[in-house]
Amino acid sequence: MMNFNYYTPTKVIFGKGTLDQVGQQVKDFGGKKVLIHYGGGSVKRSGVLDRVKASLDQAGIGWTELGGVVPNPRLGLVRQGIELCRKEGVDFLLPVGGGSVIDSAKAIGYGVANDGDVWDFYDFKRVPTACMPVGAVVTISAAGSEMSNSSVITKEEGGIKRSYNSDMGRPKFAIMDPELTMTLPDYQTACGCADILMHTMERYFNVDTMELTDVLAEGLMRVVMDEARVLVKDPKNYEARANVMWAGSLSHNGLTGCGAGNGDWACHRLEHEVGGMFDVAHGAGLAALWGTWARYVLPEKPGRFAQFAVNVLGVAPQGDDTATALKGIEAMEEFYREIKMPTNLRELGVEPTEEQILELAEKCDAANRGALGVVKRLTREDMAEIYRRAK
Ligand code: NZQ
Ligand code: ZN
Repeated sequence: MMNFNYYTPTKVIFGKGTLDQVGQQVKDFGGKKVLIHYGGGSVKRSGVLDRVKASLDQAGIGWTELGGVVPNPRLGLVRQGIELCRKEGVDFLLPVGGGSVIDSAKAIGYGVANDGDVWDFYDFKRVPTACMPVGAVVTISAAGSEMSNSSVITKEEGGIKRSYNSDMGRPKFAIMDPELTMTLPDYQTACGCADILMHTMERYFNVDTMELTDVLAEGLMRVVMDEARVLVKDPKNYEARANVMWAGSLSHNGLTGCGAGNGDWACHRLEHEVGGMFDVAHGAGLAALWGTWARYVLPEKPGRFAQFAVNVLGVAPQGDDTATALKGIEAMEEFYREIKMPTNLRELGVEPTEEQILELAEKCDAANRGALGVVKRLTREDMAEIYRRAK
């Protein structure tokens, strides 16, 4: 077990009807003029945006709005948001949406609170000294950005997707009303479940272990898999929606990695390059790569993969750890198929050429400054080989 820091400053307001508290929460956190930030229109169609505006009006909070955030949120809109906030005297950011909208708001927050080009922070050129306060209204259980320290933005030129991580960006509060996720298309629900699982899996395959953390992580993964299967058949099931929503936050606020190290994150980083180049849904991209990554690195930690197989997937122990682990990887892929997630790049709808594979590997290596993965430290050649085998 390793020493660890655990910092989760986000106030969670969870449950049916909590959306209508948003105005009061902004007021409690000192916001006077809010930027309501949202995506491509789901919050308009569902009536969520109108409810947010009504709640802000009731609390006497001024607001302006900026919609149009796309999945894999773009730098261009972040820059527009920064300008708008400065022009309108905005002092509080209110993303209403998923990881893309929350991440875009965090980026605007860094841009407004610091001089110079906001991309510098994502490009490792400078570090910000502050972030404007963010409060999140979550409409999809997936990225966990509502409690995470991370913001992932894509620069249009070159399709470069990069994250910037800092505790300064953690939201002040998160409104989590599971009913808001009931309008999600089935595909997005499944993508979200895949991403939630992966945030704990990245931490589970780590440098060290801690028994309590293992039990929390294994339990969380089992519940998410059970509820994901429920939601395939019964998308309006409130209990399942609620469990998945809470798991989404706990899976990425650091809890399921305490004492184990900083996590592996190779699948995430490999996926970010695929997302940057081909604009795929993040959770689906992870599902498409995980099995290949797992088989590739399995020889480094067969015991850990065997534990995952038995404790999370219910696989019966085989003759040795490697045999048990391989059964576990197959069972995980079977689960992805059950929830209609891809298990390779072709099923994801992406067929990279050899030239594109080399470019993906080169960008991934550069983004991680030559140090990707802890189960197995991946060289650029390893990355290219994983992309190749995932085809
Ligand atoms: O844009 P709208 O119309 O709102 O539609 C969205 C979008 O098309 C739709 N949606 C969201 N809530 C809905 C809904 N549709 C109907 N009803 C609702 N209630 O869902 C689609 C996906 O939304 P998005 O915000 O992109 O999803 P997600 O939360 O999966 O976020 C993905 C982004 O987060 C990043 C990913 O890389 C990706 O860019 N990540 C951020 C992390 C973080 N900040 O900590 C960690 C993750 O590992 C991840 O990298
Ligand atoms: Zn993720």
